[in-house]
Amino acid sequence: MGTDQALQPAIRVQGIEKSFKDLHVLRGVDFDVRPGSIFALLGSNGAGKTTLIKILSTLLKPYSGRASVNGFDVVTRAGDVRAAISLTGQFTAVDDVLTGRENLVLVARLRHLPNPAEVAGSLLARFGLAEAANRRAATYSGGMRRRLDIAMSLAGDPPVVFLDEPTTGLDPQGRLEVWRTIRQLAGQGTTVLLTTQYLDEAEQLADRIAILHRGTIIQNGTLAELKRLLPAATVEYVEKQPSLEDVFLALVGDPPGDRQDQPTADSAPGKDH
Ligand SMILES: Nc1ncnc2c1ncn2[C@@H]1O[C@H](COP(=O)(O)OP(=O)(O)O)[C@@H](O)[C@H]1O
Ligand SMILES: [Mg+2]
Repeated sequence: MGTDQALQPAIRVQGIEKSFKDLHVLRGVDFDVRPGSIFALLGSNGAGKTTLIKILSTLLKPYSGRASVNGFDVVTRAGDVRAAISLTGQFTAVDDVLTGRENLVLVARLRHLPNPAEVAGSLLARFGLAEAANRRAATYSGGMRRRLDIAMSLAGDPPVVFLDEPTTGLDPQGRLEVWRTIRQLAGQGTTVLLTTQYLDEAEQLADRIAILHRGTIIQNGTLAELKRLLPAATVEYVEKQPSLEDVFLALVGDPPGDRQDQPTADSAPGKDH
């Protein structure tokens, strides 16, 4: 099979810097994202993940450096970039009073897609929301809402999708549902750039993981490559491979961002039903 070695990256970030007054948040960020892959930008709370996503989605201008998405410069070709992307943030765009189907029809209309009802129907099916389609979104679980939110951002099938902390605040079941959705997206050829402060999320989903720390990418590689940074510890005769968490903590030196939104344990051992 003749794979194209010169395949253009779907996202290219070169020397991006951004300050807010005296706060130099991004100090020269570089990475490429291959088309159709899942790329995780891992960093603690306040590392600058959302700032970078806002630059790549044209909502903020970098102070220096260049970035392109789908071949278009994010500053000089912002309109073309916007036409090629979707952005799902931590705060949902779902309207509670509308049903799942109505939410989807609404965004399809706003985007002037030719057949809103058909677009809504196929997204509902793709995201496992067909049965709940005619219920108000207010009745959905956290995972269903987040899936609906991602589905809404995909009306029109953008080739590049930004997911900013897609599972923050979800319970374990909801996280698994969203992970499945993200894998499915990449399986269909969509490029996914997600940010997360959860090591297991990056470990589970990403083809490549970049660690953003103190304004730069301090490591970028596959999970296997990152794990090779630390030697396997040999304990008696059992070899213990380093986890991504071991690698992250060794590189960053601090535990990842606060865990205040982690769900509390939902079952006590030995509890009767
Ligand atoms: N509009 C803004 N004005 C001033 N400071 C900001 C602004 N947006 C973000 N920051 C600061 O920049 C840093 C990075 O923020 P952010 O990109 O949201 O981090 P993350 O998404 O990794 O948690 C934080 O210290 C945050 O307080
Ligand atoms: Mg953020």
